[in-house]
Amino acid sequence: EGVEVSSAHTYDFVIAANRLPVDRVVTTDGSVEWQRSPGGLVTAMESVMRGRDAAWVGWSGQADEAPEPFKDDNLLLVPVELSADEVTSYYEGQSNDSLWPIYHDVIVPATFRRSWAAAYEKVNRRFAQRVADVAAEGATVWIHDYQLQLVPRMLRVLRPDVRIGWFNHIPFPPVELFAQLPVRHSLLMGLLGADFLGFQRPADAENFLRACRRLLMAKTKGDVVEVPDSDRRVRAAAVPISIDAADLAALAESEPVKARAAEIREQLGNPRTILLGVDRLDYTKGIRHRLKAFDELLRDGRLDPTDTMLVQVASPSRERVDAYRELRHQVERTVGNINGAYSPIGSTAVTYMHRSFPREEMAALYRAADVMLVTPLRDGMNLVAKEYVTCHDGPGALVLSEFTGAAGELKQAFRCNPHDIEALKNTILTAIDTPADERSRRMRALRKQVAKNDVQAWATKYLDALRLAPEKPTA
Ligand code: ADP
Ligand code: F6P
Repeated sequence: EGVEVSSAHTYDFVIAANRLPVDRVVTTDGSVEWQRSPGGLVTAMESVMRGRDAAWVGWSGQADEAPEPFKDDNLLLVPVELSADEVTSYYEGQSNDSLWPIYHDVIVPATFRRSWAAAYEKVNRRFAQRVADVAAEGATVWIHDYQLQLVPRMLRVLRPDVRIGWFNHIPFPPVELFAQLPVRHSLLMGLLGADFLGFQRPADAENFLRACRRLLMAKTKGDVVEVPDSDRRVRAAAVPISIDAADLAALAESEPVKARAAEIREQLGNPRTILLGVDRLDYTKGIRHRLKAFDELLRDGRLDPTDTMLVQVASPSRERVDAYRELRHQVERTVGNINGAYSPIGSTAVTYMHRSFPREEMAALYRAADVMLVTPLRDGMNLVAKEYVTCHDGPGALVLSEFTGAAGELKQAFRCNPHDIEALKNTILTAIDTPADERSRRMRALRKQVAKNDVQAWATKYLDALRLAPEKPTA
């Protein structure tokens, strides 16, 4: 049901993210459905925002579509319109073909276009205006991710009364890479419009501080930046994100999910070992490296396709960006090749699924998997790793790339460098061969780590830091 947004309807707590927590989808029969949006940001923020008296400003996922603001429980969802042209230039172009590659170590080359940068600025201004419209006097505003880096400064000009935080869900690159961006100056100045900037890892915050020193000639003292030509000071620090661990653990322990996990193993033919990968189909996730390692282990006879299989769930992502289209072709060709070479009659070496599943099914898959393969070449955090250890309460094993934010916290994982295919193969075998009691012990420690540092603790820590910035919270 739509409600009018007027000055009478303003909120003390407003968040802005590129996407709303739900995507507007028009089905084949023409009816409208709202489906949960993809990605880790929504997984985390949906739990944090559930039931709050707050507003969430974001895109509906559809071009030329800006439905009226509507309520979801107590939360007001405020859609921001993007034209078809802006989806191409601001979202697919500047956000995901310029910034995304630079922020992820240039795993694929970045493309820079002046028209994309202009669209990014225009759309960021629209977000800032929408936030300004719904924020109450003195409100707390929390802006999310790399798509909205100009919003803090734009909002400060519109609304000097509000408290502004920004959190980066992805890595922040070393200054040597960041410096390539033609828009580097406006991005840094845009971010410095905030009171507090949150990052996944200490190294990300350090990269940001270094960029301010080198490119803006700004002074920094510890984790505080002195904003050039102003008396403002902005704090930049790591606050690693997490998941709603208690909620997910309860789901994973529910009878239907337990039964489904057993059924999945049965349907796969009760193999000795199930390896699992779960990712958006993104070149940052190291899916090709994982498939190569698995292929070679089968080729060398070190894994037996009659008792070991890989399940790869890859959710569709950014399909009109060339690098993503190319990745999909490569992955699907490789899966076909592996299955052609090794699948026994009646089963498949790699079960590949290119679609999204409900939470219950994901929890069951995690429970069913003996070894979880999380092998990104670069990842801000990787919530899949945290979800796996939360759902699986037996002798599982997490193979985890050292290039994820999660590797900074999940110390009992089987750590790997996915670029080193030989080492990756050995780590996968070690994970499979480690005795069950040792695997259970490691999984218990991992589970405890995530339960203690869950998304509620993260939000509390972030909002405390925002309230006190540029001073540090004492705890
Ligand atoms: P990113 O934010 O880069 O997508 P994360 O690992 O942090 O990566 O978060 C991904 C989120 O998307 C997780 O909550 C995961 O459970 C969910 N997810 C990934 N693939 C699927 C899928 N095929 N179906 C449903 N949920 C998925
Ligand atoms: O944090 C990574 C992120 O880009 C989020 O901003 C986003 O919600 C998610 O991954 C999924 O990507 P997209 O919104 O481009 O489908």
